[in-house]
Order: sequence, then C-alpha cells, then structure tokens
Amino acid sequence: MSLTSFGPGKVILLGEHAVVYGAPALAGALQRGVRAVGIPSTDTRLQLPKGLKARMRAQLNEAFEAAAEATGRPAIKVALESDLPISMGLGSSAALSVAVSRLLLRAAGRRDDARSVSGVALQMEQRFHGTPSGVDHACSVAGGLISYRRRPGAASGRAQRLAVHSPLHLAVLLVGERSPTRTTVASLRERKARWPERYERLFREIGRTAVDGHRALAEDDLAGLGDAMNVNHGLLVALGLSSASLDAAVHGLRAQGALGAKLTGAGGDGGAVIGLFERPAQALRAIERSGLPGFSSTLTACGEEQPS
Ligand code: PMV
Repeated sequence: MSLTSFGPGKVILLGEHAVVYGAPALAGALQRGVRAVGIPSTDTRLQLPKGLKARMRAQLNEAFEAAAEATGRPAIKVALESDLPISMGLGSSAALSVAVSRLLLRAAGRRDDARSVSGVALQMEQRFHGTPSGVDHACSVAGGLISYRRRPGAASGRAQRLAVHSPLHLAVLLVGERSPTRTTVASLRERKARWPERYERLFREIGRTAVDGHRALAEDDLAGLGDAMNVNHGLLVALGLSSASLDAAVHGLRAQGALGAKLTGAGGDGGAVIGLFERPAQALRAIERSGLPGFSSTLTACGEEQPS
C-alpha cells in the first residue's frame, strides 16, 4: 500500500531577509507544492528525480538522511513529484522537507501533528540552507497565511495563523535564474557586519511593513497591504537584493494594476516577483502581458485542503 503527503510552497508577502535578524514576516502557502509518495521497501530510501546536478543530489541525500534518522528509519522508498519551480524563492526545499517529514513520520507510525512535522522538516531545511529563519517550513506546515517571528539566535520561531477576510489574488512571475538563498543571505550578512547601523535600520523598517501589512489584513484593507508590499520592495532594493530584471517585472505588474508588487524570497539576480490584485482575472492578464513564465495563486486563511 502506498502513502502520500503534500508540502505546499510559499510566498513571503512581507519581511524576507529581515526575518533572519528577528523582524516579523508575513507569508502565505501556495496551492502548488511537493508531493511525496512512499511504497514499502526493505530500507529507507529516496528515489532521486532524474537530471539533477551533483550538488543538488548530495544535498537532497543529506537532508533525507537527517529525516530518516529523526524518524527511526521506517522501511519505505520515497519518490517526489513537484509542480513548484525550484530555487526561485517559492520555498521548494521547505515544501519538500515538509512532504518528506510528514510521510516518514506516518510510515513510522509516529504522530504527524504540526509540531512533529516542523521539528523534522527544520532538520532537513538546515541541510539545504544552513541557518534558515524557519519561515518557509513554518508556512508549509501551517498552510494558509501566517505571521512569523524568530528571536535572533533561536533555531526556529513562532508562527501565528492569520484570518483573511478577502482571498488574496496573486500573480507570480519567474524572472531568470538566481543564486542559492545561502549565498544571498551570506553576502547580505557581510554588508551588515560592515555597516551595522544602516542595515539594522533597514531591517527594522522592513519589520514595520510586516506589522502594517498584518494590520491591513485584519482590516481587510488590500490597498494598504499592497502599499506595504511596494515599500518593502524599495527596502529590498536598498539592501542590494534586487536586479534590473526583477525591478522591471515589479514595475510591469504595477502598470497592470497591481495594488502592490515586490520580489519574494531571497532575490539576487533573478527569482520570483509577486503582484497583489483585486480580481483573479486581472492577475492572469498581468502574467500574460508580462511575457514571462508565471502562474496565479489565491491565498486563503487555511490553505487549500490537499488530498493525502
Ligand atoms: O529560499 P527563499 O528564496 O524562499 O528565501 C527564504 C527567505 C529568506 O528570508 C531570504 C531566508 C530565510 O531563512 O528566511
């Protein structure tokens, strides 16, 4: 008999990077994600997707081993299916970590509640990202929209599920290739070490956009949320995390009527850009007119119930 589990991808609406330094962030689970399918086996094994680069294979194997150890090595062979673009700032490694952790816990006959899944998934994420803030996998475990905060130095933080009055219609554009999150986070850390006061000011200001966005969501003020996203993008530009192509995509979405648009995730040379729209049809039209690959997604309070 086979077992399946799902981990959704995520978008950070407000607060990436600053969240690593203890500022609050808002994130939402996508309908897209990673599905793990397990069949009985003689040992605990990951069937790697074909065509992966050697570095990625090694990382996947290492992360899987961490989860296998943490769950008592249930006898199962795990295959992965994903409709999430990889390494684009959409939380693909966290989605994979959550799907695999949930599946191995179930196969081992252990509890697969949010806390248990989160604990194993964090160990996997640490193999992918070094010292992640935890926002990606917290969002993937919780589903829906969350506010997230990690105390500086703590391994992971606290996620609070948010109520949403109106669903949030997003256009997600994919803008070229980008460096791994680990690299972008490390070079920002170097700039912060060199000019600490200036960078801390910017992180604090980004945290404020997340607080403002949280309030706007509670008041069903989508224009206010969009404005916080626009300001957040400006601050990410100031931190040196955007590029000409990301900025062009952001401006394109605004020209198509987005209430707010920004890069999402680690940024760098490329990655994903999101735009918030009043209606799903507007989001779809904006994607079409951008000429870039992309997809639309609607964020709701509890996330889509995924069959498992
Ligand atoms: O890996 P990405 O692109 O989804 O970015 C993760 C968000 C960061 O704030 C840049 C890093 C982190 O650990 O929170």
